[in-house]
Amino acid sequence: MHAVRYHETGGPDVLQVDDVDPPDPGQGEVLVDVHAAGVNPVDTYFRTGAYPVPELPWTPGSDLAGVVGAVGPGVEAFTVGDRVFGTGLGRTVQGSHAEQVVAPVDHVAVLPDDVSFNEGAAVALVGVTAWRALVGYADLEPAETCLVHGASGGVGHVAVQLAEATGARVVATASEQYHDHLRDLGADVVLDYHREDLESAIAEAGAPDVILDTFMDEYFPLDARVAAHGARIVGIGNTSDEARIPLGPAKSKDLDFQVMSMFNVEAYGPILDRLGHLVVAGEVVPEVAETFPLAETADAHRTVMEESFLGKLVVEP
Ligand SMILES: NC(=O)c1ccc[n+]([C@@H]2O[C@H](COP(=O)([O-])OP(=O)(O)OC[C@H]3O[C@@H](n4cnc5c(N)ncnc54)[C@H](OP(=O)(O)O)[C@@H]3O)[C@@H](O)[C@H]2O)c1
Repeated sequence: MHAVRYHETGGPDVLQVDDVDPPDPGQGEVLVDVHAAGVNPVDTYFRTGAYPVPELPWTPGSDLAGVVGAVGPGVEAFTVGDRVFGTGLGRTVQGSHAEQVVAPVDHVAVLPDDVSFNEGAAVALVGVTAWRALVGYADLEPAETCLVHGASGGVGHVAVQLAEATGARVVATASEQYHDHLRDLGADVVLDYHREDLESAIAEAGAPDVILDTFMDEYFPLDARVAAHGARIVGIGNTSDEARIPLGPAKSKDLDFQVMSMFNVEAYGPILDRLGHLVVAGEVVPEVAETFPLAETADAHRTVMEESFLGKLVVEP
């Protein structure tokens, strides 16, 4: 079978397609014939060596959607032929940018019949991230105001829809060209993140009770200033390792700052199950901006970091 692998860390060009033996599912694992695999910024962090992987060569890719091709000993929840989707791969176990991948059973869930492989692969990592942030940590409630930074991104566009599905009022930031689309997805107010008066525009839209921050090093100070009393601010993304929390507003408003990684979730399956229901119900629409054949995974890695698009990129092995 074919798998994208890198034998040394570096730029997108270290990715190559290798012919490798199909992996065997071990205890508590399933072998999945991959039909679609999401592309996420984190795939590139592993590839460059910014985040460590256990060994080389390594296959990138956290998300998968496909069909169970074999089950390992002790697996009762899935049988051969089941449609599944999952995430959490590519960090401690080999990733999904391959024709076949082995996944621990708690990393996958049944993909509902009405949900395409591309949609399943597109929603997995970003959906679990948005869920853990907004539901798990922030405990977002109906009628609260939720600010989503970077709302046209993979995480952002699902977070907007998840927040709207809870009954929250959604304020989103994004480049102008995505504003209409984000309103269609459920954002009540959309603000261009390039505008110089962004902070006062957010304040005018209503002090957020919950903030999903995809650029903590840039926005934590703004978050602290615009947040409502007692707001929950969940940081997931950063471009440098230093983020500043202004302690004055944080203290006077009892703000709760939480930083998290999707990979630390206890079990992916139960969250994926809920996301599957939301997709079937039309509450969450995973937007696929572009698809790539396996051989062009390096282009997908370039695109995810360098190009602007709404939603997700998907590799189709
Ligand atoms: N901690 C975790 O578990 C976790 C999980 C998933 C993702 N992340 C991180 O979260 C971040 C977003 O992930 P993603 O998958 O959504 O990435 P993505 O799909 O590449 O989207 C990034 C989005 O951010 C927007 N953006 C760029 N510069 C911005 C700025 N200065 N202010 C506001 N928005 C800006 C982009 O809009 P334009 O294209 O219009 O510029 C784009 O919509 C990444 O850093 C990623 O590594 C963390």
